[in-house]
Amino acid sequence: MATITTGIDAISFYTSRYFLDLKTLAEARGTDFNKYYTGLGQEKMAIPPPDEDIITMAANAALPIIEENDLEDLELLLFATESGVDQSKAAGLFVHGLLNLPKRCRVVELKEACYGATVGLQMAMGMVQRNPKAKALVIGADIARYELASPGEPTQGCGAVAMLVSANPRILAIDPEAGLFSDDVMDFWRPNYRDQAVVDGKYSTRVYLNALGETWKQYSERSGRGYADLARFCYHLPFTKIAVKAQERLAKINGVDLSTDEAEILVTDGLRYNRITGNSYTASLYVGLNSLLDQCVEDLSGKRIGLYSYGSGCVAEYFSGVVQPGYREHIRAAAHRAMLENRTELTFQQYEDIFNLSFPTDGGDHKFAQYRTGSYRLAGVSQHKRMYEKAT
Ligand code: CAA
Repeated sequence: MATITTGIDAISFYTSRYFLDLKTLAEARGTDFNKYYTGLGQEKMAIPPPDEDIITMAANAALPIIEENDLEDLELLLFATESGVDQSKAAGLFVHGLLNLPKRCRVVELKEACYGATVGLQMAMGMVQRNPKAKALVIGADIARYELASPGEPTQGCGAVAMLVSANPRILAIDPEAGLFSDDVMDFWRPNYRDQAVVDGKYSTRVYLNALGETWKQYSERSGRGYADLARFCYHLPFTKIAVKAQERLAKINGVDLSTDEAEILVTDGLRYNRITGNSYTASLYVGLNSLLDQCVEDLSGKRIGLYSYGSGCVAEYFSGVVQPGYREHIRAAAHRAMLENRTELTFQQYEDIFNLSFPTDGGDHKFAQYRTGSYRLAGVSQHKRMYEKAT
């Protein structure tokens, strides 16, 4: 069977309208803010208000794609998340309903920590290979939560990315070769009875970097490509400083002599959004991809970029894609910039109050106050059913 070019035809990113500046967090925790700003490479973290969840973020990310594309041939909706709201019903079905998507469509939820959207992308491309007329919507949406005052606290955040996958994509044609790595480790996890992750932070960083080496090895063997074949590098970004460390590691593996400044140039444009939104788990790598495509002054048309996906537990994948000529006409740089510039800063007290809110579980009728959101909001919960509505 002939291989058809497949990949990302449209991409859109959404995050909360509220953020906490990590200088505010540092002051409250008695920490030098440079630890967060410089040591972790994080300045702000996006905080979802009580009427925002992974469903509203996902619907808000996908809406522009739905509005601007003919989705009659949409046959697959894959929603990757590790912040699931139901043990049975797929989160994607709420999005499917809100966006009035075609009924002749498969909808499932995917889970493997922060890796889920990448397997979604690969599965969607497999479907398009089999039926080049078909399209798929792949969504990654998450809310990163750690215990208050824990080392993970400054690496919280939230966001969603929606990607339309098709044949002959207009933005990124994804190469067929990938490097894979899975290992049963306990570096980060969240038992069903907790709403905050448990993490062995330093260990998780070591596993992340080790898996990078393993996946790169197989990727380069299978593709025959080397370090110099890639023009830019995107990474899963639990905090942006890890990308600089990863780039240095990759250079070392390939026997390339690289200064920290040179490593930063290769990754910097891909870090700009994550630096001011924080971790968004499944969405994080693709928020970084949006950032690179939107922010890079150089025209990336025809350039190959490397992507490293990592999900704790752990599954990792190294893959690459070629940026398509004319991609700038199809990305959403201005809308992303406007969204990020038009956010409301929270006080420390407001942040803690939102963090400590608990979701009603009594089966009663609860209406949620309206905060600033995108086009969709969580209106409340009634008889254990989440109620969504168009925001006014
Ligand atoms: N000025 C400048 N830099 C400073 C500083 C200061 N005043 N004080 C400290 N630093 C530097 C440190 O030197 C360190 O830098 P290096 O790593 O380059 O040495 C950096 O700031 C962080 O300091 P610590 O290592 O002391 O930080 P910590 O132990 O308090 O926490 C962390 C760091 C372990 C990453 C923690 O934030 C954490 O647990 N985060 C959640 C887990 C995570 O993100 N893991 C990443 C891999 S797992 C994954 O990728 C999946 C996922 O999404 C979770």
